[in-house]
Amino acid sequence: MHALTHAVVEPLVPAVALRAAPRLLRTVADCRAFAAEHHAAGRTVALVPTMGYLHDGHLSLVARAREEADVVVMSIYVNPTQFAAGEDLDTYPRDEAGDLAKATAAGCAAVFLPTTDVIYPRGHSATQVAVPALQQTLCAVDRPTHFPGVALVVTKLFNITGCDVAVFGEKDFQQLAVIRRVTEDLNLPVRVVGAPLVREPDGLAMSSRNVYLGAEQRREALALSQGLFAAEGAWLAGERDADRLKRMVELRLQQAHGGIIDYCAAVDPDDLVPVTGEVDRLLLAVAVRLGKTRLIDNVRLG
Ligand code: PAF
Repeated sequence: MHALTHAVVEPLVPAVALRAAPRLLRTVADCRAFAAEHHAAGRTVALVPTMGYLHDGHLSLVARAREEADVVVMSIYVNPTQFAAGEDLDTYPRDEAGDLAKATAAGCAAVFLPTTDVIYPRGHSATQVAVPALQQTLCAVDRPTHFPGVALVVTKLFNITGCDVAVFGEKDFQQLAVIRRVTEDLNLPVRVVGAPLVREPDGLAMSSRNVYLGAEQRREALALSQGLFAAEGAWLAGERDADRLKRMVELRLQQAHGGIIDYCAAVDPDDLVPVTGEVDRLLLAVAVRLGKTRLIDNVRLG
């Protein structure tokens, strides 16, 4: 058994999509016009930023966005500035037709499908957006340019779409923390909402990159959620020692042959600083490489 507190969702896309096709937005002007129309009519706009190859995790963000605002725009853009040289920018899975069908069924009013010329018209941005305080730990250690790339593109997407609300998944916990901080520090007029991580029935956190896993790696990948669930079980039974909880996760990860542990950490959920000893809340977060695929997962306790 797994998933002590994690609901496994039923597929969110009905077999037959009955909704109107979303409006396709290709340019900054398209997005501005869409937001202006809805704002003039007194409607709020939510943004769900994605890199496409949609799965039920993304669609749960749309469902949440529909609760938070009157209309939902999804952006689909594989942002080059958040990939380092040698990462999977060129091979990142893409399926525009499938994504549009899913976005339609999920009830998106519009989908923003920019090219890189639209997002980076000069080929690059001279302006940088970064939160050094949140970029010393977890994924930033192995991917130092990743969060500045995310922070930059998300700031641009907020400004381009004129959204009132934006919804991000808690699977990318560090990304969410960075975006919350950028939004607060730069007074961006957007309410940032975090939505729960969504898992496959066997516990694996949903990710577009799961498609890279071979059958054996797919089995080994379960070590991430199993380790986190073991620690969660101990927490629910009263264990409060961050080091012992972290060790439980590490032990399970070490049993997964072939995986390289990038990190297994116990951190404060707000500032992501490592915690040790007795705690009343923490985030356990892991990143493991299985072949060329890097998987992340986390559980928040307390
Ligand atoms: O989480 C993602 O898919 C991306 O990092 C995001 C937020 C769409 C920015 O490119």
